[in-house]
Amino acid sequence: MSREIKGVLFDLDGVLVDTAKYHFIAWKQLAESLGIDFTESDNERLKGVSRLASLEIILSIGNVSLSDTEKEAAMKTKNDNYVAMISQMTPGGILPGALNLLMELREAGIKTALGSASKNAPIILERTGLGEYLDSVVDGNRTSRAKPDPEVFLLGASDLKLNPEECVVFEDAEAGIEAGIAGGMLTVGIGSAEQLGKADALYPDLKGVSWEMIKKELAG
Ligand code: BG6
Ligand code: MG
Repeated sequence: MSREIKGVLFDLDGVLVDTAKYHFIAWKQLAESLGIDFTESDNERLKGVSRLASLEIILSIGNVSLSDTEKEAAMKTKNDNYVAMISQMTPGGILPGALNLLMELREAGIKTALGSASKNAPIILERTGLGEYLDSVVDGNRTSRAKPDPEVFLLGASDLKLNPEECVVFEDAEAGIEAGIAGGMLTVGIGSAEQLGKADALYPDLKGVSWEMIKKELAG
């Protein structure tokens, strides 16, 4: 299948920035305060999942139930802690290869947009300087339907004034790859085939991955 690619839609957490560790520390502290044992392997289940859905997963692991008010308070505690950590981020928090790819895309005249579930995307983009390389930002503050719903990527394509089939989605979460497919876009998975086997191309990370390589792989 050969299509002309004119835009790239990037997930943020786990694709452009290394924030999973901060989410983990903040969720673990919250889980411990509720007497729940929360491991790094449990944390894998939260990738690409909304804040409320993440809390629900943790509560189900500990078999704990909370009222809606308690859930709101728990999410606020976790998020305040997370925001304190990401507020200290620097460009060093950008994942290897990501900046290089963004610069190549700019050079090649390919439009770029962020497609993230996170409501904290603006702080991360500002702290890392990534905002400068994105033509549009769609995040959890502009969307109401979580991935695998394609809303976040359809809005990105529309911001870039492109058709979905002219865009490629980069994602590290299964729900994100499903969202890209549902939106009619090509998809590049960043991670392992176990979770991202449905993607049109797959890389363990962006280190050493050039736009030329990706284009060839998607055309092949
Ligand atoms: C996604 C992360 O990008 O954003 C999830 O992969 C996170 O782990 C979700 O829960 C929502 O993020 P935030 O920053 O609004 O709590
Ligand atoms: Mg992600």
